[in-house]
Amino acid sequence: MIKRNLTITLIEYESAGEMNQADNQLIDCAKSATENSYAPYSKFHVGAAVLLENGETVIGSNQENAAYPSGLCAERVALFYANSKFPEVKVMAIAIAARTNGEFTESPVPPCGSCRQVMLETENRLKQSIRIILYGDKKILVTESASTLLPISFGESFLKK
Ligand code: THU
Repeated sequence: MIKRNLTITLIEYESAGEMNQADNQLIDCAKSATENSYAPYSKFHVGAAVLLENGETVIGSNQENAAYPSGLCAERVALFYANSKFPEVKVMAIAIAARTNGEFTESPVPPCGSCRQVMLETENRLKQSIRIILYGDKKILVTESASTLLPISFGESFLKK
């Protein structure tokens, strides 16, 4: 038997003021994207902002549906739009923020497993790790790659015959 310990690196900030201007701008875009969230069921309004290598910023917000599983998270709305509009342009960073009862969450909201999977495939396809910025009012977490958040992952190599 071999016991393997995996370590991940997360950088923690107390406020956006400690971060660089590019990160701050992306956080602001994610925060304002929460305003276009359609979340009448959960009332949990999530915004995501994706920074591309060509300087474009693409935003997305969660879109719910009365048939619950038909909805989609903010991160995938933003990433799928970025991948459809600029399929060959590398994704450099994504910022995520969430608001409920009119207030941004104090803690950073971790992306769901499906969003992590989509972030990872985007990284692998474009051969560019994505800086992931998880905004919370009291704490901001940053990691340099989706693989940090999904260390044992399924990918296209398993589908090769
Ligand atoms: N949601 C996101 O958009 N992103 C996340 O990272 C977590 C969850 C959405 C899905 C659903 O509309 C609502 O938040 C509650 O789960």
